[in-house]
Amino acid sequence: MCGIVGYAGARPATPILVRALRDLEYRGYDSAGIAVLGSADGEGLVITKRVGKIVNLESALDSSPGNEATVGIGHTRWATHGRPSDLNAHPHTSCGGEVVVIHNGIVENYAALRSALTARGHTFASETDTETIAHLMEERTRSGLPLLEALRLTIGELEGSHAIVAMSPSEPGAIVAARVGNAGGVVVGYGEGEMLVASDLAAILPHTQQVAFLASHQLARVDRGGAAYINGDGSPATVEPHRVPIDPVSALKGQYEHFMLKEIMEQPEALSDTIRSLVTIEPAGIHLPDLGAMSDRLSEVRRVILIGMGTSLHAAMVGRAFIERLSGVPAETDNASEFRYRDPVLGPGTLVVSVSQSGETVDVLEAMAVARAKQAMQITICNTEGAQTTRVAGGTVYTRAGLERGVASTKCFTTALVALYALALRMGEANGYLARERIAGHIQDLARLPDAVARVLQDHTPYRALANHFYDARHFLFLGRGLAFPVAMEGALKLKEISYIHAEGYAAGEMKHGPIALVDRSFPTVAVAPAHALRSKLVSNIEQIQARGGEVIVVASEGDDELAALADHAIFMPAVPEFVEPFVATVPLQCLSYYIALRRGCDVDQPRNLAKTVTVE
Ligand code: M6R
Repeated sequence: MCGIVGYAGARPATPILVRALRDLEYRGYDSAGIAVLGSADGEGLVITKRVGKIVNLESALDSSPGNEATVGIGHTRWATHGRPSDLNAHPHTSCGGEVVVIHNGIVENYAALRSALTARGHTFASETDTETIAHLMEERTRSGLPLLEALRLTIGELEGSHAIVAMSPSEPGAIVAARVGNAGGVVVGYGEGEMLVASDLAAILPHTQQVAFLASHQLARVDRGGAAYINGDGSPATVEPHRVPIDPVSALKGQYEHFMLKEIMEQPEALSDTIRSLVTIEPAGIHLPDLGAMSDRLSEVRRVILIGMGTSLHAAMVGRAFIERLSGVPAETDNASEFRYRDPVLGPGTLVVSVSQSGETVDVLEAMAVARAKQAMQITICNTEGAQTTRVAGGTVYTRAGLERGVASTKCFTTALVALYALALRMGEANGYLARERIAGHIQDLARLPDAVARVLQDHTPYRALANHFYDARHFLFLGRGLAFPVAMEGALKLKEISYIHAEGYAAGEMKHGPIALVDRSFPTVAVAPAHALRSKLVSNIEQIQARGGEVIVVASEGDDELAALADHAIFMPAVPEFVEPFVATVPLQCLSYYIALRRGCDVDQPRNLAKTVTVE
């Protein structure tokens, strides 16, 4: 979950590292630090680190030496071992100061390693698991081994998954990096006379689009002249750089106060780009260009299990209904972190569809590893070109949402629904379940989707007004049925993660089996009730809530005056075909959460305790 960056080149490293940490801050933001080698007045290691956001580090750097150093590493932390503090912030050094390390992951056997190292005379400066890595490496560099070899032998002693970057005054100009398991990626960036390493593309793209990704158990040594790679057994590794097509400009906030709002507003375009990349309208056709070997195997599929976490799991829940109803193949969903440990039965003909915008979520990657071991077919839905999930799955359906920076996922949810819709249509086409005319009809519906979403986003007055009315609520209930049930779950997740209001998403039919006991005047309900989502059933749920004094906000299709009259507050969305409703109904809930969080003064883009990409268990 932490952000990692390293720079070796000819330019001053500090501003490059600080800018990169800003670009990575969404990965973790409880402390940050940098280490540079070779200060203006000669050699030496200068480490500066501060608890809190990057701005605190920047203030400290103003009075720190090392401003002309051209090699350095930087880290933004999401704490796992040791509370957020200056001391526990990365980078960490060995006791002799010979090795400096930044790390993403958890050293699962750190307690045993720490006592062994202490017994051998090492002294620890922090409470972190990461510091053990610096001491272990130092034992090797002291015995004369080069830094890369010291790192290679050290990772053999660590349990867990890791991304590690290190440097040493004994090898000025060089940075070494290793990736072990699924704790997070290591990307190597090839600039003009300079090289970068980072946990993800956001830190690299402002400098170069030429990148290479380390696989698990691969290591790299970079200096300003280039990179060399080895495998975990010490043999040379071939890692080819390639050009990634992401536009760095999309990483900027532009006119918007927050990335979340920008990304909500980008949805019509993101949807359009994703739709255009997967379907043609005239002639109507589904083309999934990255499905690879899975293209020819879709008719073999007899059962589908969709997995994901958080928002991506909610997308998977919608995808399940798409697949069952458009391809006739039984489908189920599972939380990836449960799937991986439950020894799932995956018979022949089982397709596992993973959904992950980052493609780096550790629970998803581990679940995919289980599916692979059991020889299931795999397709992944992903927004990140070349991410880990795309390298494990037999085929990928990419979403074209552009970089998503807000911790609360918005455009990646709705674009993932497009990918799942297109996959379901393609499966129905491949196994003969869907006639050509029906496919063409669905494609027409998809083509009109971006406009419908744009209409929802035209006027924010209703969301602001509702936020003013409800911002001090302590609890919220979100209800939906059918395709609107996962939308209700997603609405509740959005609200709780950015506004810290307790919110529950429920299948509306479940309400009277317990949750209704909570309802009173201070416990508002959002009922997601577009025309096709078993609307008439929801009417009785709304009446039951109101009979107990609860206030109800309804999300209804335009023209549904009956529902609007019944509810206390109504948000209207365009009346759209059934399969398009979950896309359109989600957007008002994103806006409602955003404006409630804003009214409460919350840090919308960096909510407490969260990180954008969850690479630890
Ligand atoms: O990158 P992924 O899609 O795999 O991420 C999964 C979840 O961590 C993510 O959706 C999380 O729930 C978001 N913060 C939700 O807004």
